[in-house]
Amino acid sequence: MCGIIGYVGCEDACPILIQGLKRLEYRGYDSAGIAIQYGSQIQRYRCAGRISQLEKMFDPLTIKGTTGIAHTRWATHGEPTEKNAHPHTDMKGDVYVVHNGIIENFHILKRKLEKKGIEFSSDTDTEIIAHLIAIHFEGDLSEAVRRAISMVEGTFGIAVIHRLVPDQMVIARRGSPIIIGVGDKCHYAASDVAAMVRYTNKVVHLNDNELALITKDEFTLSTLHAKPIHRELETVEWNAEDAELNGFPHYMLKEIYEQPDTIKNATRGRLEPSEGVPKLGGIEPVWKELKECRHMVLVGCGTSYYAGCVGRYVFERLTEIDVEVELASEFRYRKLNFPPNTFVVAISQSGETADTLAAIREARRKGAKLLGIVNVVGSSIARETDAGVYNHAGPEIGVASTKIFTSQLTILTLLALLLGRHQKLSLTEGIEAIKAIRELPDLARKVLAQDNHIQSIAEKYYKYSNWLFLGRGYQYPIAMEGALKLKEISYIHAEGYAAGEMKHGPIALISSEMPVVVLAPGDSMYDKVMNNIQEVKSRKGPVIAIITEGDNRLKDMVDEYIEVPRTLEYLYPILTVIPCQLLAYHCARLLKRDIDKPRNLAKSVTVE
Ligand code: F6R
Repeated sequence: MCGIIGYVGCEDACPILIQGLKRLEYRGYDSAGIAIQYGSQIQRYRCAGRISQLEKMFDPLTIKGTTGIAHTRWATHGEPTEKNAHPHTDMKGDVYVVHNGIIENFHILKRKLEKKGIEFSSDTDTEIIAHLIAIHFEGDLSEAVRRAISMVEGTFGIAVIHRLVPDQMVIARRGSPIIIGVGDKCHYAASDVAAMVRYTNKVVHLNDNELALITKDEFTLSTLHAKPIHRELETVEWNAEDAELNGFPHYMLKEIYEQPDTIKNATRGRLEPSEGVPKLGGIEPVWKELKECRHMVLVGCGTSYYAGCVGRYVFERLTEIDVEVELASEFRYRKLNFPPNTFVVAISQSGETADTLAAIREARRKGAKLLGIVNVVGSSIARETDAGVYNHAGPEIGVASTKIFTSQLTILTLLALLLGRHQKLSLTEGIEAIKAIRELPDLARKVLAQDNHIQSIAEKYYKYSNWLFLGRGYQYPIAMEGALKLKEISYIHAEGYAAGEMKHGPIALISSEMPVVVLAPGDSMYDKVMNNIQEVKSRKGPVIAIITEGDNRLKDMVDEYIEVPRTLEYLYPILTVIPCQLLAYHCARLLKRDIDKPRNLAKSVTVE
């Protein structure tokens, strides 16, 4: 979705902003723009399409100016055209604004301003902010922004510059992230640390309804009511290299290959082998209530939701807690009654997904306690939950989530194990679990070692236009996640189904034209899944099975197989999803898709 980068300093802003925009590309966008200030002149360039097109519009070396703002836009109000791309300006060309979010009362405000003779030059909701700031400007940019945004309803993260106040930028937030980056004689502003991590790892997050005036030497943080705020700097643990390709052709492949490390990072310092109990420092603030919890709701969207679906099975196996799992987009509109001491656990890579954020706000209103499993430190969900566990997986840049999924599964397992040890699991079971969890990075490496074999399977099947993924129990959500990975990056139609449901409809689709990926590790569902495979085979469906290594019975029965090493039943999903990720990746590559930026998709879905 939309991305913001801003700079105030001593160096030319243009190359820094372009670099920042490139770091935001992964979020998904359809147009881009930049405005650079030099004294009382502001030059603006905008275009529909990619940043590479924007760069062709000017020579960055000739654009002088040490203050500027830039934006990648993902169209909501108005088509992705040059005139709708940000930065937007007022009629005189004094104020320049970049904005993430949606101004909900923009039609009413627009009508009022038009009656006063103000002409609009775009179809966007953002332009209203530029006009309002211009109307209220009397020499003090912060004050003008403050007065303008007090009139708007909806969500925003904005960065603003003004022709008559050089070397200043004002940023503000309500519902859409904006972060200050502190450099050496310069400051940055960005909607996402990835845009500035190359330049600084010292950041300050703005909370909702806060505003900051930024110059090269300092930043002044205040509330929208002008009450000063002091906030300590935070250090971002990502470095510039984490956001580079490091020799991989795509971020998605790089991130698939990072999984042995990211699984390990999810457990680092969190395993206590002799006690058979994980240690999760982040949940200490709520531990007293959490250990008594008997009802939990896991919420998330997309891949994070599927992590929750696996989590439900793991909690059922290891704890005495009744666990529901809900799509955040549905949960937020349901009429819910929570039993006392219910915990709602938000699962989110970005920590900014609008539906998940709305779901936890609704849960809070209904009296639930909130936990977060989040990758982005300091993100909205991390800040709005009572406690939580970070993934510590580094930035996930590929739009298709991979390393975060296995990291989420690892953390859900740790949480379930911790609670289970307090509720019903013996020391022996705890020790056995921790031993198996510690082996996971090596086992994931063994799965990755089959990449060439998986690629050769993709070469045989990538031209088929419909695929089915089947699994039971712990593997049912992996079937859905496998289908999601394939469809989102290769645009092949794929469905994930509970294998037991096949006879209730999807079996009608089976033919030699439909590859069926069956998740069939040696778990308690093995015999049942074997029956499903026979049903597919007897209808000439080609079966690609993901099996436990050495399973000769299945090897003889299916068309293709990919082996995963043996582990505990509830840990298999962390391994079986990896071949699905690689299959999707190779099919998409063979079909020449734009793997890291699939069409119509955004990395962080910050609007409903
Ligand atoms: C799919 C994918 C999405 C996200 C979903 C939630 O590969 O990445 O389905 O999982 O948009 O995003 P987060 O986890 O940031 O809340």
